[in-house]
Amino acid sequence: MTTASVDERPDERALAAHFTARVAAEQRIEPRDWMPEGYRRTLVRQVAQHAHSEIIGMQPEGDWIASAPSLRRKSILLAKVQDEAGHGLYLYAAAETLGVDRADLTERLIGGRQKYSSIFNYPATGFADVGVIGWLVDGAAICNQVPLCRSSYGPYARAMVRICKEESFHQRQGYELLLRMMAGTPEQRAMVQDAVDRWWWPSLMMFGPPDAESPNTRQSMEWRVKRHTNDELRQRFVDMTVPQAERLGVTLPDPALRWNEERGHYDFGEPDWAEFRRVLSGDGPCNAERIRRRRAAHEDGAWVREAAAAYAAKRSAGETR
Ligand SMILES: [Fe+2]
Ligand SMILES: [Fe+2]
Repeated sequence: MTTASVDERPDERALAAHFTARVAAEQRIEPRDWMPEGYRRTLVRQVAQHAHSEIIGMQPEGDWIASAPSLRRKSILLAKVQDEAGHGLYLYAAAETLGVDRADLTERLIGGRQKYSSIFNYPATGFADVGVIGWLVDGAAICNQVPLCRSSYGPYARAMVRICKEESFHQRQGYELLLRMMAGTPEQRAMVQDAVDRWWWPSLMMFGPPDAESPNTRQSMEWRVKRHTNDELRQRFVDMTVPQAERLGVTLPDPALRWNEERGHYDFGEPDWAEFRRVLSGDGPCNAERIRRRRAAHEDGAWVREAAAAYAAKRSAGETR
């Protein structure tokens, strides 16, 4: 290599300045563009965690497909759970554009080295849970994810556009199921209220720890990977959900919940952050079960991956011949 070509290579500082200017101008960063190592690492962590959450998130509701109360409910739920598999697929593909390998990410998940959303460590104990998960869990996911459609990383932002469209169907099917149940028998209404009581606080925890305890937020916002803080999104979710709960006729299990005229927002109580940390560290009601099943599914699918790889090798050998 000649000295001239070394001199022509832009130095790291110039590349970083160019990157910062592009992000500030709301331009997308694409896989071939230079990016700071910290930005790449943050995105790998966030996108992988998001992908894992979609796949693990199939479990609590997937259990109810076989015992759905009608053909209509079964086909809706089947479509929803399949969508979540698709979301996982788009997101693993987005993560791979950052130079990581999907098989390796799966190994990290089942080896307990990467996390997924704490919400999926709670059990779905009745069919009303399917409705409440759609309403609250997919509703919280929408609050989190709509701003990610403007994430600075192109492949992630584009995956989110499609995912958000499907999440809004998920939220609606859940709410519609609950409306039907609330118009039913006293037992059905009690099932809905019981599910709301169990899922409300874990849903608020989906936005992550309070801003004061979220050290990565500031950097992620500067990089425009994240657009709003955890507490802002949590507030937005509460403001959106309270009128829906009133319309449904359920009580949200928070005595501190009331409209604050001055702030123009609902005040609400503090989630149990000790429980959040416990569930996140692996000690929730279903953590072991979720990973055990994910690992078993991965092992059961080994022959499919091997067959697909053998077929691909055969085809490419045929093409080059
Ligand atoms: Fe999803
Ligand atoms: Fe969803």
